[in-house]
Amino acid sequence: MIKVDYDFAGICENNELQNLEKEILNSHELIMNANGAGNDFLGWRDLPLQIDCVADIQNVARALREKNDIFVVIGIGGSYLGARAVIEALSSAFANLMSKKNSPIILYAGENLSEDYMVDLLEVLKTKDYSLCVISKSGTTTEPAIAFRILKKELEEKYGKEEAKNRIIAITDKSKGALRGLATENGYKTFEIKDDVGGRFSVLTPVGLLPIAVAGFDIEKILQGAKEIREVLINNKSMTNPAWKYAAFRNLLYAKGKKIDVFLSYLPSLQYLSRWWQQLFGESEGKNGKGLFPVCLLNTTDLHSMGQYIQEGERIMFETILQVENSNKNVEIPFDKDNKDGLNYLLSHSLNEINLVALQATRQAHLSGGVAQVRISVERVNEKILGAILYFFEFSCALSAYTLKVNPFNQPGVEAYKNNMFDLLGKNK
Ligand code: PA5
Repeated sequence: MIKVDYDFAGICENNELQNLEKEILNSHELIMNANGAGNDFLGWRDLPLQIDCVADIQNVARALREKNDIFVVIGIGGSYLGARAVIEALSSAFANLMSKKNSPIILYAGENLSEDYMVDLLEVLKTKDYSLCVISKSGTTTEPAIAFRILKKELEEKYGKEEAKNRIIAITDKSKGALRGLATENGYKTFEIKDDVGGRFSVLTPVGLLPIAVAGFDIEKILQGAKEIREVLINNKSMTNPAWKYAAFRNLLYAKGKKIDVFLSYLPSLQYLSRWWQQLFGESEGKNGKGLFPVCLLNTTDLHSMGQYIQEGERIMFETILQVENSNKNVEIPFDKDNKDGLNYLLSHSLNEINLVALQATRQAHLSGGVAQVRISVERVNEKILGAILYFFEFSCALSAYTLKVNPFNQPGVEAYKNNMFDLLGKNK
């Protein structure tokens, strides 16, 4: 389902990757035997086999689809990126302009503190039927908490307190945090985030699955894709394991002084998958003064903004390329008898073929510019393959971070800005 190949652009030899086999095996064993740093956060590893609330999620999602024009997902970081990654990958690029019966538009809040954004959202919600899904593992994160307070007040004013309760779903810790307290007190429908699953590894829990199901996508297929790739990744203890290859490649290039991992996708629908990847790797590896800096670009769009730097700027990066072989929709390039734009030579190609030629041409150009590349290829974008991609990156990330000798599952650095903010706002006075 997922193929990984690479080209070192002359920076390293193939045997150097093979030499990392022992270290990657060690990282693999830390994941499987749960004896590495952060071992109380390994719940994600077996989620595709263990998730026990699929039917409940599907029932709740069905009811929400029937009664809403809009479904607002409130969360930040790992509490919204996974859902948004999958929903945008599978939706029409213009889904928000096409209202369909029993198919609410998904909007997001609590992932920024913009007052204008909030007022614009309230304006849109005024004339629509909507429900709120508030997601926070800790139940205390400021951005979603503020958004929820504002949106809940509007919801209660519109529908009255009783009906508003039926239009709020809370996804949070089973007992801790202010959100759990609010949910219990008001009797909201809740889903639990297990103690051993961290935010950025939570897309295959209700955190990701409920919004994805409300958007109308098949969560069983997503879990099936994750389950199938899991079998491959946990059982193959050799450099033919695609996650081993990716983790080894990243660590090797990092050791050679390449400090930036540029994630390239060629489909606008994958922009949020790229951002989910960025958070997963950035928050898992960037600590103790170490870690690759993950950046995501969208081609061919960004070839006209960042292409110059990648081709000829400082040689500090390598590329992770996500290659999708087939499109799901087709459009013909029309014949023009006058051919004034000179494009008739393209008639034998589909638009997707031309996009893939752009990918190939860019690979050749960047390789000649000394940029090493690891390519992750999938056949197409659908629920099953997305499930596999998500699990593949989670497993690779844990392997890669352990090989770098950091705890993949904590994020102590995030507290610094929060504490300053609380001081500045006078929270603790
Ligand atoms: O990956 C993580 O753990 C973080 O990005 C969190 O998901 C993010 O900070 C939001 O936290 P919470 O779900 O507790 O509101």
